[in-house]
Amino acid sequence: MTAQLACTTADVGPEEALRVELEGTSGPVEVAVVRDGDGGWHAISDICSHGAVSLSDGEVEGCFIECWLHGSQFDLRTGMPTALPAMRPVPVYPVTIDGERVLVDLDGRLDGSADGS
Ligand code: FES
Repeated sequence: MTAQLACTTADVGPEEALRVELEGTSGPVEVAVVRDGDGGWHAISDICSHGAVSLSDGEVEGCFIECWLHGSQFDLRTGMPTALPAMRPVPVYPVTIDGERVLVDLDGRLDGSADGS
């Protein structure tokens, strides 16, 4: 599978996140497309590793996203939790900006969780 169109650059402002559903090899994958404080683009599993809630509903601060339910923070670059209670990372995926198109490659994820679930 190759990179998929997730959204356009106009869809996500600085320090905002957008939930999108992409097609994984074993079904739909929920991904949060995020712009960090410096305008960089990230794609991270939308499902918090502590509970099944949407990370895109949380706050983006710099290169981190904070889960709205219990306050765990995840590094957008690595998916690693940097604040409890979450202890497991969430998958992150490579992002390519092609003009106005934001492309996400699910096959390039940086950790071993299958399809972000
Ligand atoms: S559900 Fe995200 S930190 Fe608890």
